[in-house]
Amino acid sequence: MKINNTSINKKNVGEIVTLYGWVNKKRDLGGLIFIDLRDRSGLIQLVINPESDVYELASTLKSEYVIKVSGKVVLRKEANSNLKTGEIEIEVQSLDILNKSLDLPFDLNNVTALEDTRLKYRYLDLRREELKNNLMIKHRVMQSARSYLNSLDFMEIETPILCKSTPEGARDYLVPSRVNKGCFYALPQSPQLFKQILMMSSMERYYQIARCFRDEDLRADRQPEFTQIDMEMSFLSQDEIMSITEGLLYNIFKDVKGIEIKLPIDRITYEEAINLYGSDKPDLRFGNPIYDITESFKGSDFSLFNNIINDGGIINALVFKEAFGYSRKDIDRLTEYVKTYGAKALAFLKYNGEFTGSIAKFVDDKIGKDLVNKLNLKDNALVLIIAGDKKTVKTSLGALRCKMAKDLGLINKNEYAFTWVTDFPMFEYSEEEGRYIACHHPFTLPQDINSLSDKEKAKAYAYDIVINGYEAGGGSLRIYNPEEQEKVLNELGFTKEQAKSQFGFLLEALKYGCPPHGGLALGLERLTMILCGTENIRDVIAFPKTTSASCLMTEAPSIVDKRQLEELHIKLDE
Ligand code: AMO
Repeated sequence: MKINNTSINKKNVGEIVTLYGWVNKKRDLGGLIFIDLRDRSGLIQLVINPESDVYELASTLKSEYVIKVSGKVVLRKEANSNLKTGEIEIEVQSLDILNKSLDLPFDLNNVTALEDTRLKYRYLDLRREELKNNLMIKHRVMQSARSYLNSLDFMEIETPILCKSTPEGARDYLVPSRVNKGCFYALPQSPQLFKQILMMSSMERYYQIARCFRDEDLRADRQPEFTQIDMEMSFLSQDEIMSITEGLLYNIFKDVKGIEIKLPIDRITYEEAINLYGSDKPDLRFGNPIYDITESFKGSDFSLFNNIINDGGIINALVFKEAFGYSRKDIDRLTEYVKTYGAKALAFLKYNGEFTGSIAKFVDDKIGKDLVNKLNLKDNALVLIIAGDKKTVKTSLGALRCKMAKDLGLINKNEYAFTWVTDFPMFEYSEEEGRYIACHHPFTLPQDINSLSDKEKAKAYAYDIVINGYEAGGGSLRIYNPEEQEKVLNELGFTKEQAKSQFGFLLEALKYGCPPHGGLALGLERLTMILCGTENIRDVIAFPKTTSASCLMTEAPSIVDKRQLEELHIKLDE
């Protein structure tokens, strides 16, 4: 049986051991050959004397050769405290080369290669400690989740990958059916409807580590194919579902990181989150909230601000005492940044007992006092101000808040800031579709079924769990009454016929005794990213896609054989 390199230590001194692994590094030092042998567990040092029978063979070894060695465990003259096995080494007596390796396209011990090269040779990149550890952390997250949910009587149930196309927000990945000409399956964006149906089938507590597929624009924390820790529960209140989720997160952080997170997790409503942090996923590792200073400028001599206020707009500000020394050039740089979020301009004030800055001449005594009070200004503070419509002001200051915190080093990388964001709106306006769509999904329970017509005001029993500015998970209570479900679909613009053709099975199932139910899904990759401390989702996926949704290793997607297309009754447009 193979033993792990890192299981050998001082206690084994004098023993003969047999080890397998890869040549991580070879050093030829004045006759002695040193080899760092690597296996999944880590490194161990081998040493080969010039007198040894295997010396010649050892001198032919190159990086990434796969070898088997036997030898005696001895104490090192000088211990290497960076290595788990740093107190000992193996005096090699026998050596077999099990396989050779070509010269590598990049150095595994000093990665400067472009990510594209690393993705093409993913099997090599995964040999690196960092990526291997990330996958290990993800494995442990899954183990911890399973063990916690099993202990609470949840059942792990699989749901289909070939599904009916039902719009849930993103674009579907479609799979043509050979047998049913002209028909398509869709890959699941999430197991949402199946898990609700399982509640109607009396399963009461379901979970699944579920693959999800969404054909949407990719970002640093988004992949077309990702995994959810997906849960659904019957007969529980929103508070109970949130508390079970908190227990799950507590166990994961304890098992994986040895950290005991503080429960219960704080809550903030969607509205508060947008007003104070300009985001529904606020990063609370730092403060610096957004202040509303509209009232301070009402009726002032500053006609630009006045006009904006008269048009229903707002004036909001951020304060950074660490950025008092920012130059005009720095502010120009920030202005360009907020413009990408739709802001027209960025005004600034510096306070040091008196105000200077781009709009200082409009700050009279009254406004000045007002600002000092409202913004709690102490000497040496930079105030960054945006005026405009509420959505643009909040979004751009929200983004600026995070950028400033990063630039100024205000974020403690070892801290985990959790918050629930609750009371999401029922609907949100989609510029792309020119209509209101469901903010969470169309099956979310409204807080008041009788006031859905004011689309901007209607609230849902929907909640997200946010960690360090990432939406780590989201869920809701679900509609469990067929008429209410039809009403919500109607509000979303589905005709009766459209509702029936797309969700007929759900509407019918709701009529056969559906329990009140709700659930939540955690993004497994997002959670793992946070635990690994990486901002790149590809770092926690064994075989990820690029931002253009391709796999550089296997070269998927690819052109297929004409015959395959014919069988699927598909003709390509030249
Ligand atoms: P939602 O769409 O909010 O909810 O997804 C749940 C969580 O999944 C993660 N996530 C993603 N991770 C990586 N790449 C993506 N493209 C991606 N999209 C989402 C996020 C997110 O919080 N059915 C509902 C859940 C429910 O109501 O129970 C759902 O899918 O971490």
